[in-house]
Amino acid sequence: MALIEAINLTKLYRMGDETVHALAGVSFSIPQRDYCAIVGPSGSGKSTLMNILGGLDTPTNGRLTIAGNDIGEMSDDDLAVFRNQTIGFVFQSFNLLPRLTALENVELPMIYGGVLPKERHERAAHLLQRVGLGERMGHKPTQLSGGQQQRVAIARALAGQPKLILADEPTGALDTNTGIEILGLFGQLNREGATIVIVTHDHEVAGATNRTIEMRDGHIVSDELNDRSARHDANV
Ligand SMILES: Nc1ncnc2c1ncn2[C@@H]1O[C@H](COP(=O)(O)OP(=O)(O)O)[C@@H](O)[C@H]1O
Ligand SMILES: [Mg+2]
Repeated sequence: MALIEAINLTKLYRMGDETVHALAGVSFSIPQRDYCAIVGPSGSGKSTLMNILGGLDTPTNGRLTIAGNDIGEMSDDDLAVFRNQTIGFVFQSFNLLPRLTALENVELPMIYGGVLPKERHERAAHLLQRVGLGERMGHKPTQLSGGQQQRVAIARALAGQPKLILADEPTGALDTNTGIEILGLFGQLNREGATIVIVTHDHEVAGATNRTIEMRDGHIVSDELNDRSARHDANV
C-alpha cells in the first residue's frame, strides 16, 4: 500500500469576491521509500499541498490517506498525535526556537510526544551526531551557520521517527554548496528508508530525487521518474 494516497484534493481561498483555487483537484500516490520533488512556479500551490500533506492545513475537498489513515476522518487531537508520530517537517527558514540550544530544539517534539527526559536527551544527541553536529549540541541557532541550522531542523524532524519527511524549499535560504550538502543528507536518509517529499523551484535539487511532480495553477501537469544518471548524491 502507498504511504500517501491523495484523491482529487482541492483548496479554495476566498479573497473578497474572488476565489483562489490554490489546489484545483490533485491526485497522486507516493509509495514507501519514494524520494520525490514537487516543482512549479511561485503561487502554483506547492506549499498549500505540503501543508495539507503534513496535517498543518485541511483540504476544502478530496480525500487524503497517509499510512492507511484517512486524514479527513481524524479529530484535531488525533491529527496532532498522528503528525507528531508520522511526519517530520523541514522549512525553508529552519523555524528553530532562538533561545533553545540545538539539543533542546531537537528534544522539543519529544517533550510533546511524551518521551521521558533521559531517553529524549539521548535520542536528540544521537540525531545531532547523525546529521554531523555532534560537536555543536550546546550552540544556539544564532551561533550556527544556515546549513548547520538546517541540520538541526532535520534532526528535529527525525525526532518522532517519522515515516514521512516533508521539506518545503529546504535549500532556499542556503548557498549552493551548503544546499548540496543538505541534499546529500536527504539522499542518505532516503537510502536508509525514509520517504521524502521536497518542494523546490531549483531543477538541480529536483534532479537529485527519484521523481518530479510539476505543478501549475493548482494542477499537477507532469509526474515523471527522474533519470538516475542525472542524480548527484553528495557524500556527507
Ligand atoms: N492563506 C491564504 N489565503 C489566501 N490565498 C492563499 C493563502 N495561501 C496561499 N494562497 C494562494 O494560493 C495560491 C497557492 O499558494 P502557495 O501554495 O503558497 O504556492 P507556492 O508554494 O507554489 O508558491 C497562491 O495564489 C496564493 O496566493
Ligand atoms: Mg511555497
